[in-house]
Amino acid sequence: MRLFRGTFLDTPDDPFHGGVLRSADDGGVLVDDTGSILSRGSFAALATTHPDATIVDLRGGLVLPGFVDTHVHFPQMRCIGALGMPLLEWLERCALPEEAQLADTSYAEAVAREFVAGLAGAGTTTALVFGAHYLDATEALFTEADRVGLRITGGLVVGDRELPDDLLTTPSRAYDDGLTLSKRWHGVRRTRYAVIPRFSLSCTPDLLDACEALLNDVPGTLLATHLNENSAEIERVRALFPDCSSYLDSYADHGLLRPTSVFAHDVHPTAGELSALAASGAIVAHCPTSNSSLGSGRFPMRAHVEAGVRVALGSDVGAGTGLSLFKEGLQAYFVQRSLGQAGYPLTAAHLLHLVTAAGATALGLSSTVGSFCEGKAYDAIWLRPPPGSPLEVLLRHAASADDALAKAFAHATPADVARVWVGGEPVVHP
Ligand code: GUN
Ligand code: ZN
Repeated sequence: MRLFRGTFLDTPDDPFHGGVLRSADDGGVLVDDTGSILSRGSFAALATTHPDATIVDLRGGLVLPGFVDTHVHFPQMRCIGALGMPLLEWLERCALPEEAQLADTSYAEAVAREFVAGLAGAGTTTALVFGAHYLDATEALFTEADRVGLRITGGLVVGDRELPDDLLTTPSRAYDDGLTLSKRWHGVRRTRYAVIPRFSLSCTPDLLDACEALLNDVPGTLLATHLNENSAEIERVRALFPDCSSYLDSYADHGLLRPTSVFAHDVHPTAGELSALAASGAIVAHCPTSNSSLGSGRFPMRAHVEAGVRVALGSDVGAGTGLSLFKEGLQAYFVQRSLGQAGYPLTAAHLLHLVTAAGATALGLSSTVGSFCEGKAYDAIWLRPPPGSPLEVLLRHAASADDALAKAFAHATPADVARVWVGGEPVVHP
């Protein structure tokens, strides 16, 4: 048994519904040999009741629940930072040519190593990941994530129109390849399968039907895709699905609007789409740096929250500018501030919730991760900036736990993430 000692911050009660940041200054989290949290409280009290526990001293800095990235593309790791283009041009000129490189499996294996190390290094312990358009490359992602021990839900990305030829599949092949991969990986250790039509712009109705069939045939799989990201994209989807009354309907009409569906972006929803999303219990993965970088627009968070839509955060690498969810949280905050009265007044507690408990709930993992509550797995990040660095000075002089957390979101980078655990095991990243 281990007793972790430090300043633990989490948000088990949702700040979007009145919850506040929970903090324990000289706190303790007692973890059993299977990596589950047995108890949390003051360090002194736990040390007295469990004198035999091995103490892990994490004083200095902050200990946060492991981060949850609800939207990220593994094959785009090497094309982060191509600035200056809107979505469709960026896809054509940057993302899709790079994704075609993953036809070479040894290339894909190298990218998988870089990607998984990047996630772990940023403190992301759980993620919903867009794989490649190729089965073997997607297999490389699962293999590497499993080796390192991250909680990855991912899958083959499929499209059968409006993509470069070498990325296209067919409805029957998409079903068969997805079934093959899900048999190998769904429910294996920390890995689960997700069905991933790229976006309805690149999918025929038959392909969306094949996705629905796979979701139905493999219980527990998630659905991940894109929605209402960019005005030109929305126009194109309208033209391709003339019988659908909205972009969301292009998915809903094929049985893809579910409580286990995660739609990235939704920057330009209609009121009807917001109601339908809320009624279905589906999730919107808000991707702040991607939206800003591609000029997709400013996410209407207030409208989502007021409509009752569940929202979490995604890095959307490679349109997003990096894997750090500290940066995504800060950008989410900036964008809402820039909207003035129309923006949602995000606090540091909201940001922490979005990148931990909200993400865990979004991915159906709320009983396992997202906070330091008893019974959950010990997935944690020790944010410990180098002594004397600006962030270390800021944290040392913070007026309160909320203040320290705000400073962390304002300033932290992956270089400040000193250690990471998943299920109580230290994550060893190269
Ligand atoms: N829409 C379809 N594919 C993509 C992608 O790779 N990135 C983003 N941001 N939007 C998409
Ligand atoms: Zn995306």
